[in-house]
Amino acid sequence: MPPERPARIGIVTVSDRAARKEYPDRGGPAAADWLRRVLTSPADILRRVVPDGADSVAQTLIDLADQQGADLILITGGTGPAPRDRTPEGLAQVIDFDLPGFGEAMRAASLRAVPTAILSRQGAGVRGRTLLITLPGNPRAIGTCLDAVFAAVPYCLDLIGAARIDTDPKVCAAFRPTAPRR
Ligand code: MTE
Repeated sequence: MPPERPARIGIVTVSDRAARKEYPDRGGPAAADWLRRVLTSPADILRRVVPDGADSVAQTLIDLADQQGADLILITGGTGPAPRDRTPEGLAQVIDFDLPGFGEAMRAASLRAVPTAILSRQGAGVRGRTLLITLPGNPRAIGTCLDAVFAAVPYCLDLIGAARIDTDPKVCAAFRPTAPRR
């Protein structure tokens, strides 16, 4: 078997104030730290910090998916109901189809922590061979949401023809129901 290429993983922080450097980006580092703890296979991480807004989000996602060849993109922030929270609209502009189970599982997990999780509009979808997942902006909420969905991510990447990733089963046991179709 030829060695697997490293996965390319985009991490996009969506925040007007972080993009203007009024405060440090905490969501992006939280997502990167979570991945470092969980992944046992090599990955190149591509980081972006962009202002809120559907077009800003959509352009960044298209660049990461199509030009940079990202296998997986995690997007943090802008999923609430406030006037500038338009990350879901940006995601909707660029995906071929959505995967509603991700949002359902993230909200179910987050609702056990805070009642306001019902305000969250997290979701996921696929563009070509890229899986895109939106997460809340709150760094602690990022862990809750990734813990809730990530066991299904490696198999999803197999199915869409993205790079293979492997996880530390002690932290997150990836579930692959059948051998990947390759
Ligand atoms: N999920 C968890 N696990 N913990 C939280 O504190 N905050 C909620 C929700 N999901 C929260 C959460 C709130 S109050 C909102 S408004 C949205 O996420 C915010 O999403 P955003 O930060 O992407 O705008």
